[in-house]
Amino acid sequence: DPGDAEKGGYDHFMLKEIHEQPKAMADTLTGRCFPDKIVLDDVNLDAETMKSINRIQIVACGTAYHAGMVGKYLIEKFARVAVETEPASEYRYKDPLVDAHTLLIVISQSGETADTLAAIRLAKEKGARVLAITNVVGSSIAREADDVLYTNAGPEIAVASTKAYVTQVGCMTLLALHFGLLNGQVDKATMKRVTSGLKDTSALIEKALGDHDKIKEYAYEHFKIDDMYFIGRGLDYYTCLEGSLKAKEISYIHSDAYAAGELKHGPIALVDAGTVVIAVCTQENVFDKMLNAIKEVKARGANVMAIAKEGHDEIIPEVDQVFFIPEMDDEITPIPTVVYLQLLAYYLSVARGCDVDKPKNLAKSVTVE
Ligand code: G6P
Repeated sequence: DPGDAEKGGYDHFMLKEIHEQPKAMADTLTGRCFPDKIVLDDVNLDAETMKSINRIQIVACGTAYHAGMVGKYLIEKFARVAVETEPASEYRYKDPLVDAHTLLIVISQSGETADTLAAIRLAKEKGARVLAITNVVGSSIAREADDVLYTNAGPEIAVASTKAYVTQVGCMTLLALHFGLLNGQVDKATMKRVTSGLKDTSALIEKALGDHDKIKEYAYEHFKIDDMYFIGRGLDYYTCLEGSLKAKEISYIHSDAYAAGELKHGPIALVDAGTVVIAVCTQENVFDKMLNAIKEVKARGANVMAIAKEGHDEIIPEVDQVFFIPEMDDEITPIPTVVYLQLLAYYLSVARGCDVDKPKNLAKSVTVE
């Protein structure tokens, strides 16, 4: 295969890109992340402009849309401003509430997605300011936006996005802190805590990668399943959406992600003996709620793989497999946690003999409507 050399010894581009994430994250943070300030060269929003903005909207497609959901959560948390999130294909066709006091944030790995580009044009026509988070320098989206934040992840070849996603989440975390500083909502202690957490992410991803054998084993034990469910609450719910998308894109296993509190409003009806449930339980304030959800699916025979923070040994007897991430701030967990779900999707795909890098019916960049 002529592409083999570029895979750097890995079997697939996706696996190579998964392993490039520690470096990608470091490149995202370099020169930008300090204990008392965030420096974003091509983002020219000042405190005055922030004051004139009364609406923030985040619009994107696919994986980038999931990064947008994390962004909404973090901006609301650190800057205390209400944020709406929507897929670009919905936003552009619904006469959105957008005017000169709106900040539209778009996220796009390629910078060429047709619906996202159309959303920018629509918002600009109505006078909104547009900030783009993208991986491709000089892309259409980078050129048309007023402010740009590059993810610096390096070229992403595999259709299933991995390093672009974690760097998008990294950028959203930086942006949320930046906004919080501009409008005086973030205190010094939070800045120090979260920026130091961000600096740890490369090492945290490295540690997650170290668990690849155990994830592979779990995937090879379960690859014949027809359905799987991802459950989580808060930030973990968005990680679940992304993990579920990854799994269906490349392994063609039907999967869904649910906010765990919604289980009893429907999805629990689908849980039977052997149903695989991936329970993401990294958020401290809802850990006990997650443990209850796990007990409920286990009582119906589910096979549960969980991800939790170290120190929560009480989860061990309740699940079939558990991966522990080190103690860290809840706001940092989406970055290392998704790595487990990327590897799970990857090994499920390999075990099923699928074309990992070029899944059927999917394109790396959707430039047509
Ligand atoms: C396609 C790709 C996805 C990607 C989405 C948005 O569907 O297969 O991996 O998340 O487009 O692409 P963008 O380049 O705008 O991030």
